[in-house]
Amino acid sequence: MSSEWLRCVVVFLVAVPLVKAAPQPNIVFIMADDYGWHDIGYHGSEIHTPHLDKLSASGVRLERYYIQPICTPSRNQLMTGRYQIHTGMQHSIIWPCQPYCVPLEEKLLPQYLKEAGYSTHMVGKWHLGLYKKDCLPTRRGFDTYFGYLLGSEDYFNHTQCWHIPPKKRFCGLDLRDGEEVATEYAGDYSTELFSQKAVNIIEKQQSNKPFFLYVALQAVHAPLQVPDKYLEPYSFIKDLDRRIYAGMVSAMDEAVGNITAALQRTGHWENTVLVFSTDNGGQTLSGGSNWPLRGRKTTLWEGGVRGVGFVAGPLLNQSGTVNHELIHISDWLPTFVALAGGSTNTSKPLDGFNVWPTISYGAASPRLDILHNIDPLYFDDTPCLGRTPRPLASGDRWAKSGFNVSIHAAIRFSNWKLLTGDQGCDRWFPRPGENTSEWRQISEEPQNPVRLFDIVNDPEERNDLSDQFPTVVNHLLTRLYNYQKTALPIIYPGEDPRCDPSATGAWGPWT
Ligand SMILES: *[C@@H]1O[C@H](CO)[C@@H](O)[C@H](O)[C@H]1NC(C)=O
Ligand SMILES: *[C@@H]1O[C@H](CO)[C@@H](O)[C@H](O)[C@H]1NC(C)=O
Ligand SMILES: *[C@@H]1O[C@H](CO)[C@@H](O)[C@H](O)[C@H]1NC(C)=O
Ligand SMILES: *[C@@H]1O[C@H](CO)[C@@H](O)[C@H](O)[C@H]1NC(C)=O
Ligand SMILES: *[C@@H]1O[C@H](CO)[C@@H](O)[C@H](O)[C@H]1NC(C)=O
Ligand SMILES: *[C@@H]1O[C@H](CO)[C@@H](O)[C@H](O)[C@H]1NC(C)=O
Repeated sequence: MSSEWLRCVVVFLVAVPLVKAAPQPNIVFIMADDYGWHDIGYHGSEIHTPHLDKLSASGVRLERYYIQPICTPSRNQLMTGRYQIHTGMQHSIIWPCQPYCVPLEEKLLPQYLKEAGYSTHMVGKWHLGLYKKDCLPTRRGFDTYFGYLLGSEDYFNHTQCWHIPPKKRFCGLDLRDGEEVATEYAGDYSTELFSQKAVNIIEKQQSNKPFFLYVALQAVHAPLQVPDKYLEPYSFIKDLDRRIYAGMVSAMDEAVGNITAALQRTGHWENTVLVFSTDNGGQTLSGGSNWPLRGRKTTLWEGGVRGVGFVAGPLLNQSGTVNHELIHISDWLPTFVALAGGSTNTSKPLDGFNVWPTISYGAASPRLDILHNIDPLYFDDTPCLGRTPRPLASGDRWAKSGFNVSIHAAIRFSNWKLLTGDQGCDRWFPRPGENTSEWRQISEEPQNPVRLFDIVNDPEERNDLSDQFPTVVNHLLTRLYNYQKTALPIIYPGEDPRCDPSATGAWGPWT
């Protein structure tokens, strides 16, 4: 053996552990659906969430954590690390018969993690498009998938019906194991079914290969359905929707407990980073509450975009802390890829940041701002405590910024948040079980198209400061204008009746 060769071996043996300073952690991301700000024990809820409270108390609770206001956009940003305006998906969600999905040239989180050597698994709700096979999770980086492709369905029989006006009605099963339709689970409550599938995956993992597990629970989205046993502790809740919702939260809490217990039982926990996150604010029409925040799901008020979230696991440097730094759902992709020792050297620029130092050591967030969204097609006509859509007052005085303030948009910068255009359901909903007069007062005034809040001091968005701080308004409008220049055209095709699942019995690719 030549000494030259020997030296190479020695250098190699010494160098490798230096380069690979940290082992690649397992990453488990549990996403709740439509889970409201007020619906977790540690935010003072009347709903019991012992597992979530305990797990988050041992980790880092994220109290200035932002998500998107509806399902598809949050999931899209989790998977791409990019704002909605940068994927053309700034408007609404993907409805069952719309022929589009997250653009295929976008590289998704599991693809990055696979490149870094991970096995990748998904259980639960996809909602990122299904019209053709290339859109499915198994074609976009997941080694295994068990779940449903649309946005909602029956929790027990796993079917969904959908109307295309004027009178087409389509019904079908929406549950798949990989790409195959899974017919044998009728009657299995999805929260239990999905947590059991997640547990099975954890039990199969080997300690020599890191894994990424994305569990996108159906809980606690409508329809309101839960096995009776979860309702028992909630006879004190008079509002029936809220009572069933509370039971659904309890089932979800137990599911998270079961998944965590499986990680601990199998020894994977020591090398796991677990994130729990809602996908958007709670839906007050279906039992959810974001009290005391304003608005709700579908709006850019804090009730729509400020989310429940926490990180747990022994790899956190500062456990048992509460984090008040700005963190956004688009940050998970660069954070996880960094933890995995992978690379985000891709042709498409990311909007997210690696926030691991912020979460783990309490470093300042690398984020200066969050673009909540810019959606020129927005409208919201859902019932809102008697609010009727009001016209917008003139925004002429802001014209020189270049940004069209009739457009529905919102941006966060430091303490400030600016909202423009029609902001949909803008009410303060009462605390569950309370009935005071405040929310019965409805304004008939035209809406101010520009509103400015100091969110840190006024998280309930009660004091519009746009008149007092016109310089701040102009600065933020300019930022919106610059963002809007980078927006892709909106992808939002009409519904295609060829989606009809009756031929196969199941929702799935049709072209
Ligand atoms: C599934 O349950 C819903 C009620 O949520 C019901 O309307 C529908 O008919 C059921 N579908 C099947 C195939 O059993
Ligand atoms: C949690 O695990 C227990 C014990 O296996 C099981 O009885 C229960 O149904 C599980 N709960 C959920 C929500 O999966
Ligand atoms: C990114 O990839 C390109 C093309 O492969 C390469 O030229 C460049 O050096 C890479 N940059 C970094 C920072 O790795
Ligand atoms: C991690 O925590 C320890 C103990 O609290 C502390 O001394 C150390 O500075 C922390 N590391 C970083 C990078 O903040
Ligand atoms: C401003 O935006 C609104 C809402 O999207 C739109 O209806 C209007 O045409 C826009 N005005 C101009 C001048 O582009
Ligand atoms: C709240 O109070 C109003 C007026 O007193 C009453 O009409 C309404 O039914 C009450 N709502 C609930 C949920 O108790």
